[in-house]
Order: sequence, then structure tokens, then C-alpha cells
Amino acid sequence: MKRSLSGIKSTGTPHVGNYLGMIRPAIDLQIDHEAFYFIADYHALTTEKDGGEIFDSTLSVAAYFLAFGLDPNKAALFRQSAVPEVTELAWLLSSVYNIGSLERAHTYKAAKDLGKANALNHATFMYPVLMAADILIYNSDVVPVGADQLQHLEMTRDMASRFNAIYGDLLKLPEAIVKENVAVVPGRDGRKMSKSYKNTIEPLTSSKKLKKQIMSIVTDVKSLEEPKDPESCNVFALYKLFSSAEECRQMEANYRGGNYGYGHAKIALFEKMDAYFSPYREKYSALIDDPAEIEEALAMGAQRVRPIVLETMKKLRLAVGIGRRA
Ligand code: ADP
Ligand code: TRP
Repeated sequence: MKRSLSGIKSTGTPHVGNYLGMIRPAIDLQIDHEAFYFIADYHALTTEKDGGEIFDSTLSVAAYFLAFGLDPNKAALFRQSAVPEVTELAWLLSSVYNIGSLERAHTYKAAKDLGKANALNHATFMYPVLMAADILIYNSDVVPVGADQLQHLEMTRDMASRFNAIYGDLLKLPEAIVKENVAVVPGRDGRKMSKSYKNTIEPLTSSKKLKKQIMSIVTDVKSLEEPKDPESCNVFALYKLFSSAEECRQMEANYRGGNYGYGHAKIALFEKMDAYFSPYREKYSALIDDPAEIEEALAMGAQRVRPIVLETMKKLRLAVGIGRRA
């Protein structure tokens, strides 16, 4: 059975882009893959300095996975920090990877372009190395992610190849799995939905808040009577992700026919999303109110992956010359 692995940072609450791009595809893979998913609390440290926020967000993200159907008896769900060996592997990978390659990372360049070069921390620079360690330590076959992580996956393969060229064929090169129609889910302003753009829609918030978030989606200023272009509309872009082909055709006809306002389209989108997500809300609230079940799932997951980690690290230490010689 192939092994699927992915991670998501514990910064805030997951949004619809995280859900469609990563959480749902990852959970679907638990059926016919050995699935390992972790909450990236070490990676959260690059931007979040409030420990309380990281503690809370870790539980919230884990509750999302469980509420959406991750079965802790099938898939391993755990904290990244339950496997501190990933930081050791990151060091081994750092020792074979060039600074020049890391300087080309989009995420690093974006952080630098914000014009705060002096405030850039080293963890942000080495972010892709820790991510590569996360993936390679479990000999992962596939990594379900959104399109924004593709460069990190390429860098992971690159690091593994360089390591293997020096020390022998020890690390498996993973493949990214990116779902086509949800590779980049748009946010309320049409840019990629992202916590950093503050344009998110939160799937498991209350109906009232969900409605408020949907009503604030940005559109142009065409009057009710005017025909509208569905293809350039942020509301329709999201509606498509929750509706059947027939419902989409109907909505397109409404847009093109005129006398159909963006308010109508937003209400239709709200009804779709509310119906889709409301069955999961109760489970999520129950988990957050009593985190013991979450902690138990996380403990089970960590226990499950540890033997694999120990075996990998034993082989790697031996190959590079760390510790006792066999
Ligand atoms: P954010 O950009 O909001 O900080 P993360 O970096 O925590 O999100 O992303 C967690 C996972 O969700 C990654 O696999 C990422 O590719 C995916 N993802 C994030 N935003 C989107 C989006 N708008 N569309 C599709 N996938 C996304
Ligand atoms: N970088 C990923 C994100 O921003 C999180 C992550 C950390 C990850 N380690 C990983 C994803 C390993 C996949 C595999 O969302």
C-alpha cells in the first residue's frame, strides 16, 4: 500500500481553500493508502510567536480532520513536534543543500519582498528543508497539497536526490498530488484564499458568520437588471466547487439573462455551503469542547509513526557518520 503524507500549519482556523485543496483529498486517501497527516507546529513558529495561539490552533486543526472524517484507527494524525527527529533530518539535508536553491523559494522571496529583510528569520529561510525532512523521514510516496506547495515538493525531491547522490539510495522521491479544480481556491477578493490575505471563508463557523463572510465577497458594480459574466465572478467561482453541473448551468443562465443580482447568487452560494458543512459542525464543536478525544487520536498517531522514524534515522545516521559505527 502506498503511503500518503501531508501537513498543515497550526496558525488560525482552516479555511475553505485548505479544506478543498488539502484536507478533503488527504482524508479521501485514507481508504486505499497508509495515511500520515500532521499538524505543523514547528512550521507555525516561523510566523506565530504566541504559544497559546499555536496550542489552540493545533487542537482546532486536528478537530477539523476528525470532524471531516479522518478515522484515527486507519490514518495517523499527529503533531509534527511529536517527531523531533525531523529537525535532525533537516540538519542533515541542510548540509547537502545549497543556499542558492533556498533563495529561489517563492515563499522566501515573497517574505523578503515585503521589504522587511531585517525581520526575516532563519526558520523562514530553511522552511523548505524542514518540510522536506517531514516528507522524507516517512519514505512517503504521495503528498496531497494545494498548488502553492508544488515548488516545495520539487525542492524536496531535489534535496533527496542530492542526499542520495552522496550517501547512496536512501531517500524515496515523493510525488505531489494536486486536485485540478481545487488547486487554487479563490478567496473573497478573487486572490488565492489564504490566511495571509485575510480573504478566507471558514467552513465550520456558525451559519450566521458563514453568511456574513459570503455576503462580503467582492463583485463588480453591475445593476440588478444587467446581464453578468459568470466566468469573471468570485461568487460563481466558489459556487462551482459546491454544485452539480446542472446547477452550474442554471446559475450561468441566471447571470447571463439579467435581472439576477449578485445578492441572489451569494444567497444561493450560502445555501449550498451551509448545507454542505452543517453536518460537520456539531462533531467539530463536540471535539473542541472536550479535547480528550483529540489528544487520544494525536497520541495514537504519534505512536504509530515512531517506529518508522527510528528506523529511517538509524539508517541515515549510519550513512553520514553520526553516532556509533554499527
Ligand atoms: P494559508 O495559505 O492560508 O496559510 P497553508 O499554507 O496553511 O494555508 O496551507 C495548508 C494546505 O492547504 C496546503 O496544502 C496548501 O497548499 C493548501 N491550500 C492553502 N490555500 C489554498 C487554496 N486557496 N486553494 C487550494 N489549496 C490551498
Ligand atoms: N508547508 C505546508 C503549508 O504551508 C505545511 C507543511 C509542512 C507540509 N510540512 C509539510 C505539507 C510536509 C506537506 C508535507 O501548508
